[in-house]
Amino acid sequence: MGSVITVGIITASDKGSKGEREDLSAPVIRELVQSIQGQVIAYDMVADEQRLLEDKMKEYADEKKLDLVFTTGGTGFASRDVTPEATRAVVERLVPGIAEAMRWESLKITPKAMLSRAVAGIRGGTLIINLPGSPEAVRECLETILPALSHGIEILK
Ligand code: MTE
Repeated sequence: MGSVITVGIITASDKGSKGEREDLSAPVIRELVQSIQGQVIAYDMVADEQRLLEDKMKEYADEKKLDLVFTTGGTGFASRDVTPEATRAVVERLVPGIAEAMRWESLKITPKAMLSRAVAGIRGGTLIINLPGSPEAVRECLETILPALSHGIEILK
């Protein structure tokens, strides 16, 4: 058996950060990462502000040194959807295949999957992955990518 994978969750939501919306997506991530021995040890709900999202991703990667960080939300077309821009600004290497796989598999469920601008990339020893915002989308995307992640994280460690 491999070792525990440390996981962080950043929920990008203006309403959630003001306490006006319950975060139903983070619990789905918590549940599903158990299949790869993932343990969620950091969680924050952040407004859809690029700078705030960048700072939180840097904290999780550089200070907390997490293996894996998921963001959820803010990947669509709304003017306040800036999670992919924040992620691109902080990662050193992109991992296009992860986002390609999520869109490819999700397209079999809904054509709206193409509307997610999600990206994934590596900062230091941390893999950062954007997930869409809805709990259903989070579940669908994680079911696609989780089986491949342990191997990648093992190489990063
Ligand atoms: N991916 C999956 N697997 N399932 C979904 O229902 N919804 C899409 C897409 N990706 C969806 C999905 C929709 S409707 C949008 S607008 C985009 O993700 C962006 O969502 P976000 O802005 O909440 O990140």
